[in-house]
Amino acid sequence: MFDAIAPRYDRANRLISLGMDLRWRGKAVRLALANKPAVVLDVGAGTGDLTRMVAANAEPSVRAYGVDFSLPMLRIAAARSDREPDRVRYLQGDALHLPLPPASVDAIVTAFTIRNISDLTEVFRSFARVLKPGGTVTVLEISPMGNGPVAMLFRLYFGKIVPFIGRLATGHPFAYRYLPESVERFRDAETLAALMAENGFGAVTFRRLGMGSVALHHGVRED
Ligand SMILES: C[S@@+](CC[C@H](N)C(=O)[O-])C[C@H]1O[C@@H](n2cnc3c(N)ncnc32)[C@H](O)[C@@H]1O
Repeated sequence: MFDAIAPRYDRANRLISLGMDLRWRGKAVRLALANKPAVVLDVGAGTGDLTRMVAANAEPSVRAYGVDFSLPMLRIAAARSDREPDRVRYLQGDALHLPLPPASVDAIVTAFTIRNISDLTEVFRSFARVLKPGGTVTVLEISPMGNGPVAMLFRLYFGKIVPFIGRLATGHPFAYRYLPESVERFRDAETLAALMAENGFGAVTFRRLGMGSVALHHGVRED
C-alpha cells in the first residue's frame, strides 16, 4: 500500500489535511528539538518530510535519521534530501526492531505511523531501547474522536471524502480506504499517553490539534 502511493504521497497529505499537516509537523519538530538533541530519529519517515524539517530547523551539527520499511518511500526521501547528505540519512528497518544501537538517539519523532502498527507496547519499548535516558519521544498521530456532531462530520470526511481525494491525488484505487478503519481502531489520546507511561516514558503530555482529529504526544525516556 505505502509502496504504491509513495510518488504522490505528499501531495495527497496536503490535500487531505487542507494544508494543516505542515503546521502540525512544525509543532512536532519544535517539540522534538526543544532539548537540543544531537541525534534525531524519524520513525516511519516515509518520503522524509519530517526528517528534512528536522534538519532544516536544527543546528548544523545535528544528525537526522529516517527509518522506514518501505524502500520506494525511502528512495524518494533520499532523492529529496540530496542537498544535506551529511546531515540526513535514511535506513530501511522496522519500527519494532530499529536498526540503531541501544541508547544512541537523543530524540525520536514520528508522524502518522504508529497507527499502522498493531503492537504499541512493543513500539514504545523499541523507542525506549534506542533512546538515551532523558531522550524524548514526540508522536504526531490521528486520533479517534468518539461521538458527537464534530466527530460525525470527521467520520464522514475520513470515510467518504478522503478516499475520493486520495484516489484522485495518488491514482491508486484503494489509497486511503484503510484510513477510517485505522483511525477508529487506534487508541484515543488518553490511552496512548497511558501506554507511553507504562512502557518506559515519564512526563508524558499531549495536546489535541485539528479540532481533536490529531494528537501530539511527548514523553521523556526514564532512566
Ligand atoms: C502514513 S505514512 C507517514 C509517513 C511520514 N511519517 C509522514 O508523516 O509523511 C506511514 C509510514 O510508516 C511506514 N511504516 C508503517 N509501519 C512501519 C513499521 N512497522 N516500521 C517502519 N515503517 C513503517 C510506512 O511505510 C509509511 O512510510
